[in-house]
Amino acid sequence: MSKRPIIIDTDPGIDDALAIAIALFSEELDVKLITTVAGNVGIDLVTHNALRLLKYFEREDIPVAKGAGSPLIREFEDASNVHGKTGMEGFDFEEPTQTVIKENAVDAMRNTILNSDEKITLVPIGPLTNIALLLKTYPEVKENIEEIVLMGGSASRGNKGVMSEFNIASDPEAAYMVFHSGVKLTMVGLDVGLNALVLPEDSEAIKDMNKTGKMAYCLFKKYRGGSFNTGLKMYDSSAIAYLLRPDMFEVQETYIDVELAGSMTAGCTLVDLRGYLGKENNATACLGIDADAFRKWFVESIKKCI
Ligand code: BDR
Ligand code: CA
Repeated sequence: MSKRPIIIDTDPGIDDALAIAIALFSEELDVKLITTVAGNVGIDLVTHNALRLLKYFEREDIPVAKGAGSPLIREFEDASNVHGKTGMEGFDFEEPTQTVIKENAVDAMRNTILNSDEKITLVPIGPLTNIALLLKTYPEVKENIEEIVLMGGSASRGNKGVMSEFNIASDPEAAYMVFHSGVKLTMVGLDVGLNALVLPEDSEAIKDMNKTGKMAYCLFKKYRGGSFNTGLKMYDSSAIAYLLRPDMFEVQETYIDVELAGSMTAGCTLVDLRGYLGKENNATACLGIDADAFRKWFVESIKKCI
């Protein structure tokens, strides 16, 4: 079976780190490129973190391209309260030998997509700035994109604002452009992320499994996406889970829009499950996940890592 080619656009980020690990060691995915975007922490830190991860996973053959350092219009606000000031606090990584490639994230994505014989799946697990710029600057790539499976948004409440999720609220204009791009899109949002939990017994199980498990355990002790004792939220891994195990998800085809004007709700995703807006469906919304199956899948996936 040929592996599914993907590009991960990311802002590592502790939960990003685990998503990247699982993707890299999956027999079904072929990570062609990693692009970085300012999000959990600033662009230099997230880019350094992506490189540190590839060094740790012994996959410095995968190109890393540096992306946008700020949202399209709004001011940058990080999430270092969740991931620590470096974005991956809690583990002592070796310095990478690899450096970023000379193309920026948008050009690197364009080249990778246009040069691929097979359609590429984009997996954005940070703010959507790079993806919006790509689709706007190089609309010709759309034909060779299989789909976009993104972590972000919510059909209910938020984790950055009352109603808005961090990745979408960080750059609502970019998200708006992506949801209106016409590219096949799946939203794996908080409805899933809040239930894609790792419990203490799972952390204990992976701790001595391999070097990825060891790293994860140390990062988990510092991660503030949930609590180590009652459940850590593996938001970004849930997007990878959707690629590999869609059977674990409850989904609905629907219309999704992004609020831009709301003085208190900008960056909120309107998941129009009942068709109030009378628009054609433009996305698949993931509305739930089998929490036990996810935990099992997560531990099994870490087992496949080095
Ligand atoms: C998203 O925000 C970030 O902090 C996480 O890495 C994840 O991508 C969850 O809202
Ligand atoms: Ca992320």
